[in-house]
Amino acid sequence: MAFPQHRPRRLRSEARFRDLVRETVLLPRHLILPLFVEEGLEKPEPISAMPGHSRWPASEVFQPAEAAFAKGVTTFLLFGVPAKKDAVGSASKDPDGVIPVALKSLRKHLPTAVLITDVCLCGYTSHGHCGVIGDQGAILNDETLQYLVEMALCHARAGADIVAPSDMMDGRVGAIRAALDLEGMLHTPILSYAAKFASAFYGPFREAAHSAPTFGDRRTYQMDSGNAREALIEMQLDFDEGADMLMVKPAGPYLDIIRLARDTFPCPIAAYQVSGEFSMIKAAGANGWIDETAAMMESLLGIRRAGADLIITYFAAEAAEILRQKA
Ligand code: PBG
Repeated sequence: MAFPQHRPRRLRSEARFRDLVRETVLLPRHLILPLFVEEGLEKPEPISAMPGHSRWPASEVFQPAEAAFAKGVTTFLLFGVPAKKDAVGSASKDPDGVIPVALKSLRKHLPTAVLITDVCLCGYTSHGHCGVIGDQGAILNDETLQYLVEMALCHARAGADIVAPSDMMDGRVGAIRAALDLEGMLHTPILSYAAKFASAFYGPFREAAHSAPTFGDRRTYQMDSGNAREALIEMQLDFDEGADMLMVKPAGPYLDIIRLARDTFPCPIAAYQVSGEFSMIKAAGANGWIDETAAMMESLLGIRRAGADLIITYFAAEAAEILRQKA
């Protein structure tokens, strides 16, 4: 292709042309909004590192959900913070716990919404790790599986449409699938956090969910950021164990992994634009260093272009509102 026959600027010369030939689309239905519910709260508690987001009482969380739903966001990902934490995260399987109560309330207010729950112990354990701990402080893999299974069952029984294990223990997708099937919940899909990297970008979330580890870090179970081939192993295992959808997390710094997932697996691929990615754009926007709205939309379009079908993002409601105005 040679100049002057080819002038790529021709198709950029007007907004009408740009709209006509844009390859990637972003729609409200691609966006999933995370919501935090905390047991024992009487009113929402703003999360200082995540402007616009709060921890909600289970009975009130329908408020932000309804507001987002009105803008076209139909799908929510719920994180629970229990009143009492212990070494094995016992509250995670409580049928009257914060997630079951939130599910019932959300279902009543938004009967057609898709409700996904995060399945992981870190918000429920006193030590903040995603699994149970052995004598030497190691995070035990196989011993943790039963706790995750019970948590997933508890959520599914309470009406979760989809369960999303985020703990990164080996074998948990298969264990959860088998347990759901045994209870006759053959049609409850699993959205697996398959390629989840040990990331500095989870910082604000750990404030939101009070889930920072009290010792050590998550590097013995979450992935090393340098590894792409290993991400294929993780995703293949989860796919083979019965995951219906695979997730890559974080999103922005791992766009190559999203593309790898898209090109390798025929199932839907989700990407999680995590708290740090959100807060950075918010902070730079608040300082007037970038155009926050434009940066938000560009970051989301980039994740879609990389190959994500679905994006879990704290911008879901704001972005859906912008898309609605444009439509
Ligand atoms: C639980 C979990 C985490 C996030 C989602 N599920 C935190 C972590 O692994 O430390 C992070 C989400 C975010 O940063 O927005 N394991």
